[in-house]
Formats: sequence, C-alpha cells, structure tokens
Amino acid sequence: MNIILLGPPGAGKGTQAQRLEQQRGMVQMSTGDMLRAAVKAGTPVGLKAKAVMEAGELVSDAIVSALIGERLDETEGKGAIFDGFPRTGHQAAALEILLGERGRALDHVIEIEVDEDALVERITGRFSCANCGAGYHDRFKLPKVEGTCDVCGQHEFKRRPDDNEATVRTRMSEYRAKTAPILPYYEERGLVRRVDGMASVEKVARQIDAILDGA
Ligand code: AP5
Ligand code: ZN
Repeated sequence: MNIILLGPPGAGKGTQAQRLEQQRGMVQMSTGDMLRAAVKAGTPVGLKAKAVMEAGELVSDAIVSALIGERLDETEGKGAIFDGFPRTGHQAAALEILLGERGRALDHVIEIEVDEDALVERITGRFSCANCGAGYHDRFKLPKVEGTCDVCGQHEFKRRPDDNEATVRTRMSEYRAKTAPILPYYEERGLVRRVDGMASVEKVARQIDAILDGA
C-alpha cells in the first residue's frame, strides 16, 4: 500500500508516519528528514537546501523528486508513506512517474485537517531524540521518564532551526499557496480521505487505521 500524508506544517504527518512504520512495517519517505540529513552531512544538496529551509520556503522540485527517486525502491513490498511530499503540482507529477515506472500506484491521499492557530504551539513545542529521531512535545508528548528517550533510552534531544514562529508562518503560507492546490488533482481520482487532525495522536491514528483497513 502506498499513501500520501498531506497537511500543513505541524499537522502530525511525521508523528503518524513514524507510528505506521513501527506498527505496520511500512516505510516513511520524509523529504524533510532526507533534506535535514543532507544538510547535516554537508552534501551538495544540503548546501543548497540549508538557507531555503531556514527561511521556511520550498526546496526545488528537482532536488526533492530526485531524493524520493533514489530511495523509493526501499519501500518495495512494504509500502510507502509519503510524508511532506509531494508539495507542488510538479512533485505530484514526478511521483506519478516514479511509481508508474515500478508498476505501483497510490492507494490513499490522507489529508490531516487542522486549525492553523494550534499549529504554532505544536511546532514551537516540538523536540526529538538526537539519537533515533523519535518525536516529542513539551506539552503533548513528553518522554515517559523525564530526559530519557522512550524508544532508544538515550538522553540527548534537539530542536529544529526552522521551528520558530516567523518561519512557521512562512511555511504555512507556502503550504496554502503551493501544496493545498494539489488536492483537487487527487480528489478527481477519488483518492482523498480526510481525518480530523485536531484530535489526540491516538484518535488520529485510529482514523488513519480505519482508512488503511478499508473500514
Ligand atoms: P518538513 O520536515 O516536511 O516539515 P513540515 O511539513 O513543515 O512538517 P512538520 O515536520 O513541521 O510537521 P508534521 O506534520 O510532520 O508534524 P509532527 O508530526 O512533527 O519540511 C521542512 C522543510 O523542508 C520545508 O519547510 C521545506 O523547506 C523543505 N521541504 C521538505 N519537503 C519538501 C518538498 N517536498 N518540497 C520542497 N521543500 C521541501 O507534529 C508536530 C508536533 O505536534 C510534534 O511535537 C507532535 O508530537 C505534536 N503532535 C502531532 N500530532 C498531534 C496531535 N494529534 N495532538 C497534539 N499534538 C500533536
Ligand atoms: Zn531515541
């Protein structure tokens, strides 16, 4: 099964993708994570992407589509969760080609609907494990034992440089201007399912599971 999780910054795409990966063995394809890894490693892609990401703008279609193309075969037989991709019409077209070349297709495009005002709080409170990447939140999802990652037991955490209020506002306007307009393309093909992203993490998970299980 191949699905897209679509929604504005902070909607909970990464949270749900990580869960699906752990519980269903699907593979998370997050272009944001791939770009952050490239920035950290100082690759040519990372050098190009760094300032764009810190400004909250979109990295070029060619770069992100190539990143997905390089990794797509890892999801063969397991199923892909596209998280933060596609974000423009060009990227949607590129994904169509990449999947089609492999005899694969999209099963669902899951739009996570949220109230934008809540997103600033979600994003500015977010942090993650510096070792394994597990996601946490100052108010909504603290580690079970203070200062210790639930998943790997390590003690170092980090915050993203683009998780400040000004950058979040730019990321939201990029979403409205460039990403939300790709929804009608998937709607015409009957692929779009909506979930209430304002519910708790567990309730959002149940709504997504119902879609994947064909309920
Ligand atoms: P990317 O990494 O994709 O970031 P984003 O889309 O802005 O999404 P986020 O990761 O901020 O949010 P999320 O929806 O995953 O929410 P999360 O689950 O973490 O992109 C970053 C940048 O990279 C872009 O700005 C761009 O520059 C570049 N880029 C990436 N992909 C690109 C592409 N395809 N094309 C061009 N450029 C690209 O949740 C947020 C917080 O809320 C967490 O702390 C979580 O614990 C909490 N939370 C989650 N769900 C709930 C809930 N139901 N209730 C309460 N709290 C919750
Ligand atoms: Zn960890």
